Amino acid sequence: MNIWAVVLAAGKGTRLAQAADGQRKQYLQYRGAPLFWASARTFAAMPVVKGVVFVFSPEDIENSRKMLAGLVGRDNLGLPWLVAEGGERRQDSVRNGLDVLPRECTHVLVHDSARPFATPRMISRLVDALVNGEQAVIPGIPVTDTIKILNHDVVCHTPLRHDLCAVQTPQAFELDFLRQVHEKARQHGWDVTDDAMLVEQCEGRVYVVEGEAGNIKITNPEDLRLLRRENGEQAMQKLPVSGFGYDVHRYMDPQDPKARPMILGGFPIPGAPGVAAHSDGDVLLHALADAVLGCVGLGDIGGLFPDTDPQYDNASSGMLLAEVMERARAEGFEPTHADLTIIAQAPRLSQHRECIRKSVAHHLGLTPRQVNVKATTEEKLGFTGRKEGIKAVALVNGLLAG
Ligand code: CTP
Ligand code: MG
Repeated sequence: MNIWAVVLAAGKGTRLAQAADGQRKQYLQYRGAPLFWASARTFAAMPVVKGVVFVFSPEDIENSRKMLAGLVGRDNLGLPWLVAEGGERRQDSVRNGLDVLPRECTHVLVHDSARPFATPRMISRLVDALVNGEQAVIPGIPVTDTIKILNHDVVCHTPLRHDLCAVQTPQAFELDFLRQVHEKARQHGWDVTDDAMLVEQCEGRVYVVEGEAGNIKITNPEDLRLLRRENGEQAMQKLPVSGFGYDVHRYMDPQDPKARPMILGGFPIPGAPGVAAHSDGDVLLHALADAVLGCVGLGDIGGLFPDTDPQYDNASSGMLLAEVMERARAEGFEPTHADLTIIAQAPRLSQHRECIRKSVAHHLGLTPRQVNVKATTEEKLGFTGRKEGIKAVALVNGLLAG
């Protein structure tokens, strides 16, 4: 038997979106990593699992690949892993995940990344049933509520509670069998909420093993507290880190069509000299982004957003910093303080200091009290003294998951 896991992380998380600040639940922080990583760690702890396929939605796939590269770098799975593009419905995402499985794979565990608490113990029960020759095995737990069948808010039937069970993932299948039932579903246009249902529609046998009460699917806002509780314990293990950033931009004649209007910390500075840059030339946010990367050991912004890449032409530095922050958060980083100095002979910046401070705080998700902005000249010395350019330095402190 050669068993792979397919970890589904291509949903939209609509029911949770508002409570999660618009973030999709599979990317919420849990134990210092995005939620989907918890399932990968569980599978990696089981010698019987030979590899993992991650399924991400097309719009997130590039970012998620980068996230994965970072995660694997620090927390090696010890397993081969692949990435597939998700589809519109869950069942489409599963199908796409099955499509990339290697030839030697014979069995598959299809798992919702929204269920981070599944344990190897329970997954072993599924595997044992496969070993015993079952083609489709799912975990189930008895229901405690009485369940009613409704018709437009009116009860029409009460099934016997004894006959009911609530089912979970992973769901385990013989791969060829699962591919066949998915193909049938495609031909007949079936819409299902789990893979076992496809087997049932084909009148196949689905065997149920004991699930786990703790194997909750993070679905509604109240489920977030389950993640927070664990994160709270983890926060104790976070260690303080610091990162330093430095950047320089040359001044240009503001009339020059290539000159960018000056913007510092996301705040426009009217009447200031124009700046030569590939992006929008925000020297302060560039220094800040490098300081954040310094905290998490992810190199520098030149490496992440090469200035030879046309997609970063006139790119908003606010967006670049947002991406840097997203990656840093995925590493388990949270900033606690930033101290910034802008070095320029001109323009005078004192009247803009508070606005820059607030803007920087906003970009980092901090309060203005956690940010300090200073401006200085270099006494007419050097290139800043000759008003040929501007520089900025940034020191960021924060906590990083150990
Ligand atoms: N999923 C997927 N592809 C889809 C839909 C769902 O990979 N097109 C995944 C989700 O990422 C999740 C799992 O299937 O891990 C279970 O789905 P659900 O809990 O419904 O998640 P979402 O669809 O993301 O949430 P919602 O229904 O609230 O939008
Ligand atoms: Mg859904």
